[in-house]
Amino acid sequence: MKHTFERPPGFVYSSRIKRVPRDSGKAGRNTAARHLNCEQVPLKELAERFGTPLYVYSATAIRQRVRAFARAFHGVSHICYSVKANSNLNILRLLARMGCGFDVVSGGELERVLRANRGAVKKVVFSGVGKTAAEIEAALKAGILLFNLESHAEMEVVAACAEKLKRTARIAWRVNPDVPAETHPYISTGLRKHKFGVPIGEARRLYAAAAQWEYLQVAGVSVHIGSQITQFAPFRAAMERVAQLVRQLQSDGHRIQYVDAGGGLGISYDGPQDFSSVIADYADAVTRPLRELKVKVLLEPGRSIIGPAGMLLTTVLYRKQNGDKKFVVVDSAMNDLIRPALYQAEHQILPVEDFRAASEIVDIVGPVCESGDFFAHDRTLPTVNAGDVLAVLDAGAYGMALASNYNTRSRPAEVLVDGKSARLIRRRESVADQVGPEVMGKQKH
Ligand code: LLP
Repeated sequence: MKHTFERPPGFVYSSRIKRVPRDSGKAGRNTAARHLNCEQVPLKELAERFGTPLYVYSATAIRQRVRAFARAFHGVSHICYSVKANSNLNILRLLARMGCGFDVVSGGELERVLRANRGAVKKVVFSGVGKTAAEIEAALKAGILLFNLESHAEMEVVAACAEKLKRTARIAWRVNPDVPAETHPYISTGLRKHKFGVPIGEARRLYAAAAQWEYLQVAGVSVHIGSQITQFAPFRAAMERVAQLVRQLQSDGHRIQYVDAGGGLGISYDGPQDFSSVIADYADAVTRPLRELKVKVLLEPGRSIIGPAGMLLTTVLYRKQNGDKKFVVVDSAMNDLIRPALYQAEHQILPVEDFRAASEIVDIVGPVCESGDFFAHDRTLPTVNAGDVLAVLDAGAYGMALASNYNTRSRPAEVLVDGKSARLIRRRESVADQVGPEVMGKQKH
């Protein structure tokens, strides 16, 4: 993938002149300071106003990415944004207002869509290997677009729920195309050894089985080969296999209206990327094999919509040095952003105000009691001091969504910026929020 152009307007450095008082003792006096902004709002201001750790999202960047999808796919596709990437109700509402549907994987995510925008439920696809009967019934009652089935046993439960409620369930089989995709092993899903989908070779038999049920309506074929895939060949290979299957199914007499191509388009974590060219190549890989099939393409992007549109702000608490090793201890931790610990992800990290000439090699770590609690190892960073604010970039996807209360740390607040305005879209959690559900029995003395 090419990484050639400016960071999306979501996050830009603006070069205002910063006058540093002569006696402040800071390096680089009276030099041009670069301030990292989200749209027109300086991130430093957001950190002061809302505190840190803080997730900040750019509404403009989100909209631009949705529009880029629409342009590249020329209206043959429909976005069903993958709620798991970032499920804040305000983000879902923004996307629903742009006409997006949603990919959900739980009753909880379905409930979020209903709360964000009731009407969007008509464009919901329900994926996942372990849907419960209660979740399936909730989805049937809500009137979702499509169930992506992942096993014969699950099909029987969907059929039984549909019959009980006397509502037709539109179904697609999620086929596993056995296509390798170069990504982290935890987020690769398209091989036979993975738990996802059904082997593509068994699909015709399963479609025939589904067609036997009165309350199941065969409507599509679905595939998802993994996440953070930065090459286009695996998408193309998967869609070629799917296209061949669609032809067979059509000749078997099934009416295949939808091909759900899943999500998985990767982003660049090491610098800006020309999204318009990436999305054009991706659209070509997905749609070319499907030409002449007269199907509507559903897409389930998560990361490629929201990843680069968000960042995590954190404040430097301490500097410390153990032998040769320098540490910058920040107020965010693996509970706020687990991607470095879980996937060895390397997010770019920048000070939100940068007027220092010197840089150094440091580990950027959080306060949690695990060595896995780091944001970066041996990273070259402009010299920072206690009180400075850092931005962890490209953290909009699978950041807040994977945040936890480990170490009884309250999860970060979230802010949505649109032009000059910044709106709190999730207040900072309190310890009272955390302990609220814990049931205390009567004390016996
Ligand atoms: N559709 C299905 C069926 C999925 O399983 C996923 C992601 C998506 C769509 C959205 O994929 P995306 O466009 O975001 O790549 N926590 C990991 C990523 C896990 C992805 C799980 N499935 C991370 O932080 O990298």
